[in-house]
Amino acid sequence: MTISPSSRAVQQYATTSGNLTARMAIHSFSTNPQHWFDFVAARLPATGDVLEVGAGTGKLWSHVDRSRMRLTLTDFSEAMCAHLRTVDDATVHRCDAAGLPFAPASFDTVVANHMLYHLDDPAAALREFARVLRPGGRLLAAVNGRDHMAELLALGPLIGRPDLTLSAARNDVTAESVPHLVASHFTGVTVERYPSDLSVPSPDPVLAFLSSIAATPLTPAEEAAARALVEARIATDGTFHIHKHTVLITADR
Ligand SMILES: C[S@@+](CC[C@H](N)C(=O)[O-])C[C@H]1O[C@@H](n2cnc3c(N)ncnc32)[C@H](O)[C@@H]1O
Repeated sequence: MTISPSSRAVQQYATTSGNLTARMAIHSFSTNPQHWFDFVAARLPATGDVLEVGAGTGKLWSHVDRSRMRLTLTDFSEAMCAHLRTVDDATVHRCDAAGLPFAPASFDTVVANHMLYHLDDPAAALREFARVLRPGGRLLAAVNGRDHMAELLALGPLIGRPDLTLSAARNDVTAESVPHLVASHFTGVTVERYPSDLSVPSPDPVLAFLSSIAATPLTPAEEAAARALVEARIATDGTFHIHKHTVLITADR
């Protein structure tokens, strides 16, 4: 059974930040010593009015020098907004990305980090981002490629759980498709790949990730089957290697 990206996002995030936190944990096994949030921070304009949409737990902002910016954080989830209210000196609004409660030309920078693929109509959100950006403002949007984490996502079908997938695979809002979409609303579109894979030394983080994307819990038998597959790979390769494919798209208003 397929569900819409937005229904999936509600299921995943509306009442809990636990799934996001569990999914982020596996990225501590990154092969790139530069943390993803530091990669993004290095490409953010240092000053002005900055908006993050779908800001999740707001972790990005502990990696950013905010001394010369005014920060606004939004998310549609009350559970996420509860986290965002703990970010110092940030204004928080609970709202949908496609209906931002801001006047036109309110911001110098809009950040959409790993959230466009949760939307049924990403073009509507991009129109909204263009509306709230000032002329000359910047958009930074991160999405994943179609082959992102393929080894991990192959496990679901192998254990009889083809539902264990990421929404990106369903609505094709990916590194391959989003740059064209962004170019309909912005100029100067650039796409930069974050060079990193994951090298996971034990099955537990992989199982925790799978559990975080499961609409219904894994049975003990499914869990044991996934564990055996990961252990076999670690026995052969010394690690469970997962390819990542993440890009940061930047564009001018
Ligand atoms: C994968 S998380 C990324 C969170 C954060 N940007 C980060 O990089 O850590 C996606 C976030 O988008 C939010 N989200 C999903 N659909 C949304 C929508 N329609 N409007 C606003 N936020 C949404 C979710 O609640 C979640 O916090």
